[in-house]
Amino acid sequence: MDYHIKDKSLAEQGRLRIEWAGREMPVMKLVRQRFAKEKPLKGIRIAGCLHITTETGNLALALKDGGANLVLCASNPLSTQDDAAAALVEYGLPTFAIKGEDNQTYYKHINSALAHKPQLTVDDGADLVSTAHKKKTKLLPDIIGGTEETTTGVIRLRNMARDGKLKYPVIAVNDAKTKHFFDNRYGTGQSTIDGITRATNILWAGKRVVVSGYGWCGRGIARRAQGMGSWVIVVEVDPISALEAAMDGYQVMPLIEAAKVGDIFITTTGDINAIDKAHFAKMKDGAIMANSGHFNVEINIPALEKMAKSKRQMRPFVDEYTLADKRRLYLLGEGRLINLAAAEGHPASVMDMSFANQALCLEHLVKNRGKLKPDVYPVPEEIDNEVGRLKLKAMNISIDSLTKEQKKYLDSWEEGT
Ligand SMILES: NC(=O)c1ccc[n+]([C@@H]2O[C@H](COP(=O)([O-])OP(=O)(O)OC[C@H]3O[C@@H](n4cnc5c(N)ncnc54)[C@H](O)[C@@H]3O)[C@@H](O)[C@H]2O)c1
Repeated sequence: MDYHIKDKSLAEQGRLRIEWAGREMPVMKLVRQRFAKEKPLKGIRIAGCLHITTETGNLALALKDGGANLVLCASNPLSTQDDAAAALVEYGLPTFAIKGEDNQTYYKHINSALAHKPQLTVDDGADLVSTAHKKKTKLLPDIIGGTEETTTGVIRLRNMARDGKLKYPVIAVNDAKTKHFFDNRYGTGQSTIDGITRATNILWAGKRVVVSGYGWCGRGIARRAQGMGSWVIVVEVDPISALEAAMDGYQVMPLIEAAKVGDIFITTTGDINAIDKAHFAKMKDGAIMANSGHFNVEINIPALEKMAKSKRQMRPFVDEYTLADKRRLYLLGEGRLINLAAAEGHPASVMDMSFANQALCLEHLVKNRGKLKPDVYPVPEEIDNEVGRLKLKAMNISIDSLTKEQKKYLDSWEEGT
């Protein structure tokens, strides 16, 4: 079996940590049990380009038990947990992922996953899909479909579909309610604070935290930072999101103003150069910057490198840039998503829902093989609702249901004042 990981001797530790994450993934457990019985993915070749974490380990084992012939590669050079990768290899899953791999190795790993000739692709950021479409077009006719985990990936895929370039159907798992309402908000919220804390050991209380991008992730980060006692400033380009931030109780202002007062800057926009040269020029000595958006383009690192007179690594994941006027700015995790670079990514309990959606959407694609034309599709509502229902049940929460009278009332228009 072909694979490329850091150290196979980490497998036992990885196995235990995958099992530990599994404790918090009751919905995945149910999916896995059914998959093991019914084998809905029997003999299907799948390539998964995902953050290689212990939660992904649980998804991978469910797909394997479902009969899939699965290979995995990293969806980010810094997000791999080397022990999880080692465990997956021990479970017989070819895995290509090493924490800290350079860009060349990253794409070599994507190509190794594509060499598997996948019939299904599971992507987080659309690098696998875009590499297949740009460099391995011969594979495309055999691909039944794909799934996409994150906002940035869905945006890239929609752009491909708009330009008539997407050659197979892809389900936007990110857009399921049981995904982005929870994973992006509570998962990114908590794990971003965790990543920055682990990298720096800063005290959040009393700090001025600038959150750039008040989408699903930004809302979660702002709320968690506020809960830690920080003064939160939100920076936005969308009037509605800015208004929401203001009414949620945060200060809202242009970044060029926030740059002068912020202690910690966190980007989560999915956009390029959300923090740029003009902002570095205004920042206080000691300002810290971190990104939690998918790609490392949100902070203009090439401009920062140019402006800096010197650079030192102060601790793992903390780079100090000293500018000509002696101000020191700190960049965390090379501007890569800090929750996965310096911490462990989202807690298992939210990945439970994201990955149950992934597994069920893959099953849906196989069941509907040949019926879906190339496009980006929403997660079927039945899957989204089922994941929500199962999660509530696992959390021992019951809710009310509509009476016949209420159903009729809500379906009608005749009754008024
Ligand atoms: N770190 C993680 O584990 C993780 C998890 C989920 C999503 N993501 C990634 O985080 C990013 C954000 O995802 P989301 O679901 O919150 O997206 P979203 O679309 O809900 O929110 C993005 C927000 O950023 C704003 N924005 C865009 N450009 C801006 C700019 N230049 N300045 C200020 N604001 C700007 C938009 O108006 C929008 O409100 C994406 O790249 C996504 O893939 C990361």
